[in-house]
Amino acid sequence: MPATADTRITIVLATANRDKVRELRPLLETISPLFNVVTLHELGVEVEIEETEETLEGNALLKARAIFALLSERFPFMIALADDTGLEVNALNGAPGVYSARFAPVADGRTPTYQENVLHLLRCMKGVADRAACFRTVVALKGLLPSAQGEFRFEHTAEGVVPGSITLEEQGREGFGYDPLFLVHATGKTYAEMSMEEKNSLSHRSLAVQQAVTDLRNILQLKQIPLTDTNTHL
Ligand code: IMP
Repeated sequence: MPATADTRITIVLATANRDKVRELRPLLETISPLFNVVTLHELGVEVEIEETEETLEGNALLKARAIFALLSERFPFMIALADDTGLEVNALNGAPGVYSARFAPVADGRTPTYQENVLHLLRCMKGVADRAACFRTVVALKGLLPSAQGEFRFEHTAEGVVPGSITLEEQGREGFGYDPLFLVHATGKTYAEMSMEEKNSLSHRSLAVQQAVTDLRNILQLKQIPLTDTNTHL
């Protein structure tokens, strides 16, 4: 079935994080007026997906596939979009990496707080000279789209990386997670010393999302999937 104005393509964002949604929605909606970007929350879906893979890519794909499986019956055409992020520290052989959310050891098996993770990283890096690190985000897409041949199914991942280093102490009060410890060389500031707008303009997550959006445009173009209500091609 070719795409027309009434062939909406629903993009489901597999995140509960409002900042991520605010960043993602306009980027995706600029691709096509046929895109309807919704969150799990807006769909009334509450789901806990355990991140059991050992790579960012594995976990991002796992989440995109789970959301797609859960919701694809509800929509004729949809794309599930999920992301996973990690801080990779050279001197720690890439740790905490995929385990960034659960880095600090805590007694009762709960998820550590951001502050516990920050203090644990500072302890691990005490006296360490090589402080190089990077933030990496992988965005995964799993979709079913209309095409001239009928339906087109695809999976895709895109990556965003920002190099930097780990500071000797916390700097700045903005942001979340490891932001006060991550110095972005290009700016001479930690993420926590940047406004949300500045961080969003250069962050690992926005680079990954922008790459995913570019890739998605290319996929749609390659498959000659029309993206306007007048049935013109991209
Ligand atoms: P998630 O994959 O986005 O849930 O990120 C996993 C963990 O990485 C989070 O719990 C945070 O500790 C950390 N993290 C992710 N993104 C950022 C960021 O932009 N700044 C600082 N820490 C982050």
